[in-house]
Amino acid sequence: MLWIKALHIIFVTSWFAGLFYLPRLLVNHAMVTDVATSERLKLMEQKLYRFMLPLAILALAFGLWLWLGYGISGRWMHPKLTLVAVLIGYHFYCGKLVNDFKQDKNKHSHVWYRWFNELPVVVLTIIVILVVVKPF
Ligand code: HEM
Repeated sequence: MLWIKALHIIFVTSWFAGLFYLPRLLVNHAMVTDVATSERLKLMEQKLYRFMLPLAILALAFGLWLWLGYGISGRWMHPKLTLVAVLIGYHFYCGKLVNDFKQDKNKHSHVWYRWFNELPVVVLTIIVILVVVKPF
């Protein structure tokens, strides 16, 4: 079980590297005016986004294994799963934003992306408190 938990944490951390960095790229992209930089950022965003999906799947698969395979659960699991659903929505919404930039159809300012960038920080903080402190 500890190996599965270790793998769960490894893939959660790797997925979050993307969830933190991709919106940072979008903040920069929203400020760019020259075509060459914009094209380079498009490539970086698309490659990073593609790389994040397998990491997300593995993080969730090992989490499900801990929950359903080893029966580790509690009342904390309900809010955790709700936040995981928010995170999955965030992940795919990032994909939509990457696609908007790809087609030069971005509608948001860099300030909007800065706020958007904060959501995974809040979600990560609450989830870690839920699984480690288990306040209920
Ligand atoms: C389908 C989604 C997920 C399920 C079913 C799930 C389930 C679990 C379970 C059952 C544990 C073991 C808890 C314990 O030993 O007390 C665990 C540990 C953990 N989970 Fe998840 N998890 C999921 C997604 C996530 C996500 C998205 C994050 C990060 C934001 C996360 C962060 C952690 C951390 C940090 C631990 C280690 C806690 C510890 O060792 O005390 N999990 N998860």
